[in-house]
Amino acid sequence: MTTFILNGQRVSSDLPDDTPLLWALRDGLDLTGTKFGCGMGLCGACTVHLDGEPVRACSTPLSAVAGKKVTTIEGVDAARAGQAVQAAWQKLDVVQCGYCQSGQIMSATALLVANPRPTDAEIDAAMSGNICRCATYVRIRAAIHEAAT
Ligand code: FES
Repeated sequence: MTTFILNGQRVSSDLPDDTPLLWALRDGLDLTGTKFGCGMGLCGACTVHLDGEPVRACSTPLSAVAGKKVTTIEGVDAARAGQAVQAAWQKLDVVQCGYCQSGQIMSATALLVANPRPTDAEIDAAMSGNICRCATYVRIRAAIHEAAT
């Protein structure tokens, strides 16, 4: 049994310790906003926050989150930066197909919490692990600047 704080609520999962957090969230806890892309920590679609840091839920075992705080796209708006990022995403119409965007928003929010006024180079560095097959990168960068204002 693994107990942790998920979007501000204490939850428990009885899935095996080595279950990827992604599946514990999606299948065990019915939070499907976090997406499966590659399953190997390479695409960023599954990005969530673990004690405020962006991590890949597909390659984070359930045992690693015991007693910690996990935030998913469903809870990102609890933080002011998360609200600002979501508002900027809507204002600048960032999304195309949308599949990678919850991971993009989680990485962007973590960036702005750590660095409220990132440069283009800092944005590119922070977002480089989040792949978008629709290539919305220019709008993502603009939206991060918009959220930072
Ligand atoms: Fe986790 Fe691609 S699904 S990084």
